[in-house]
Amino acid sequence: MPKIIVSDSASLVDRWIQALLERRPDLEAVPVAALGDDEAARASVDYALIWAPKPGLLASLPNLKLIVSVGAGLDHLTSDPDLPRHIPTVRMVDPGLTQGMSEYCTWGVLSLHRLFVPLLNAQASGVWDVVHAPIASNVRVGVLGFGVLGSKTGEALQALGFQVCGWSRSPKQHDSIPLYHGEDGLREVLATCDHLVLLMPATPETYKIINADFLARCKPGVGIVNAGRGSLIDDAALLQALASGQAGGAVLDVFHQEPLPSDHPYWAHPKVIVTPHVAALTYPETGADHVAAAIAALEAGAPLPAVVDWDRGY
Ligand code: NAP
Ligand code: GLV
Repeated sequence: MPKIIVSDSASLVDRWIQALLERRPDLEAVPVAALGDDEAARASVDYALIWAPKPGLLASLPNLKLIVSVGAGLDHLTSDPDLPRHIPTVRMVDPGLTQGMSEYCTWGVLSLHRLFVPLLNAQASGVWDVVHAPIASNVRVGVLGFGVLGSKTGEALQALGFQVCGWSRSPKQHDSIPLYHGEDGLREVLATCDHLVLLMPATPETYKIINADFLARCKPGVGIVNAGRGSLIDDAALLQALASGQAGGAVLDVFHQEPLPSDHPYWAHPKVIVTPHVAALTYPETGADHVAAAIAALEAGAPLPAVVDWDRGY
């Protein structure tokens, strides 16, 4: 009987096991915590559905054939120096996660667009401060990282009436959203967008991509929604841009250090909304189809869905 080990937040592990067994009753699914330490137990593991494994754990499983990341992001794996990169690895694609992300990012853009931060600050001071938002059809939102999550988020923003464009690493096409890539594409996006939604993965290429030079190339007053990873932003540069007005506001869900340290300037910043990495969660009930499909593809020798290319970094 093929064995899959499961690690996620404690409250989700039983739900994963139930959802997996509903789809694949032939699997033995066990929580990582219940995996014995002996060689025989480790040798019995075929697949790993994993979030933030203990460093060295995956490398210690001699018959591991597939790693499925519980998250769409992979930094919880790459932080393991012994990650066995030769084993096929699949990113999470979950309709529940995608829906959550598009809700979060549309909320983030609407918060900036409808000036909710200044309105909340005015309320806290008991000030009747009448401010009006521009009409959405005159506002352009750029989604940087137009993959599974970025494309759905872009479509949701477009449905709300915003002009939307996307930017990705490689050339892509969309029926109704203009897409850009490369340096020339980025120049066009930054020069024309009022708000930017960041949904790129953490890779060496994207590390602090939102830096002083990048922000200087944006439209004055640009709004930033970061639901990708904290490593995308050079915090000192963003704080400087917020102070000068070059950035109008920011909605930030992810940070270099999580939890965000209690003395970090973002917490009390009058132009910043901080949320504690809650933009989108993977739901076992909607994510298990992807896990079952990945295992089935591996067993059939077929191409894996959302397979990671470690040379590319995601
Ligand atoms: P995905 O489908 O792999 O999409 C990633 C997108 O980023 C792709 O469009 C890719 O370009 C683009 N990209 C990668 N490197 C780039 C670069 N150097 N320059 C420009 N674009 C680049 O991933 P996803 O499922 O949408 O997830 C995106 C990220 O969201 C995850 O990696 C994770 O960090 C984050 N996330 C956050 C939360 C949260 O709760 N805050 C939850 C889930 C995920 P190509 O299209 O050309 O490949
Ligand atoms: C959450 O941050 C994820 O990567 O899915």
